[in-house]
Amino acid sequence: MKFFLDTAEADKIRKYNDLGMVDGVTTNPTLILKSGRTQREAIEEICKMVKGPVSVEGAATTTDGLVKEAEEFASWAKNVVAKVPMSQDGLRAVQLLSKKGIKTNVTLVFSPAQALLVAKAGATYVSPFIGRLDDVGVEGMDVIAQTKQIYDNYDYETEILVASVRSPLHVVQAATLGADICTMPPDVLDKMYKHPFTDAGMAKFLADWNATLHKK
Ligand code: G3P
Repeated sequence: MKFFLDTAEADKIRKYNDLGMVDGVTTNPTLILKSGRTQREAIEEICKMVKGPVSVEGAATTTDGLVKEAEEFASWAKNVVAKVPMSQDGLRAVQLLSKKGIKTNVTLVFSPAQALLVAKAGATYVSPFIGRLDDVGVEGMDVIAQTKQIYDNYDYETEILVASVRSPLHVVQAATLGADICTMPPDVLDKMYKHPFTDAGMAKFLADWNATLHKK
C-alpha cells in the first residue's frame, strides 16, 4: 500500500520522506492554512521534495472554474494532482481534465454510490473520508470495503485513497481491505512505529548486553 502524508508542513514531510515512507502528499485548504504559507509556496516546496503525487485543492465549484483552477495548479509542478469536490460539476470537470492529461483526486466522498460515479468519470483517485464518518457513528471502513468490491468487479482504474485517517488502526484496516493508498497525518505514521513491548524489549536487551562480558 502506498503511504501519503496528509499535511502541508514541509518539515514533517521532509522527516518521513528521508525515512523512505512517503509516496505522495495530500493537502486541503485547512492544512494549507495550518502551514502558515501561501498555497503556491507550500505546494512548490513539497513538489520539489516528494517525487510522488501531491494533491492540491482550490475553492471553485463550477466545472469551468474547477478546470481553470486545476490547469493553474498543474502549471506549478509536474506531480500536482487537482482535487475536485464530489458534485455533478466536479465529475464533469474530472472528465475534461483527464482529456487534458491532468490527474484528479475526487474529495469529500462518503458513500460507495459516490465512489462508483467517481470511477465512471475516470478520476485518478477517489478519497473516501473515513474518520468523519466514524465521528458521526457510521463505520467509515465499510465504504472502503464496498468501493474495493465495486472497483474489482469492473476493473476500474481509479485508485482508492483512504482519507480522514485518525489512527494506525485505520491504516491497518485499509491495508487489510486492499486499498491502494492511505493518506495519514504525520502523527499517525509516527505512532505506527511504536509499541511498548518493542521499547521494553530493547531496554532489556541493552541492559543484558551491558551486563555481559564481551571478549575484545
Ligand atoms: O485531506 C482530507 C482528509 O484527510 C481530511 O481529514 O481529519 O480533516 O477529516 P480530517
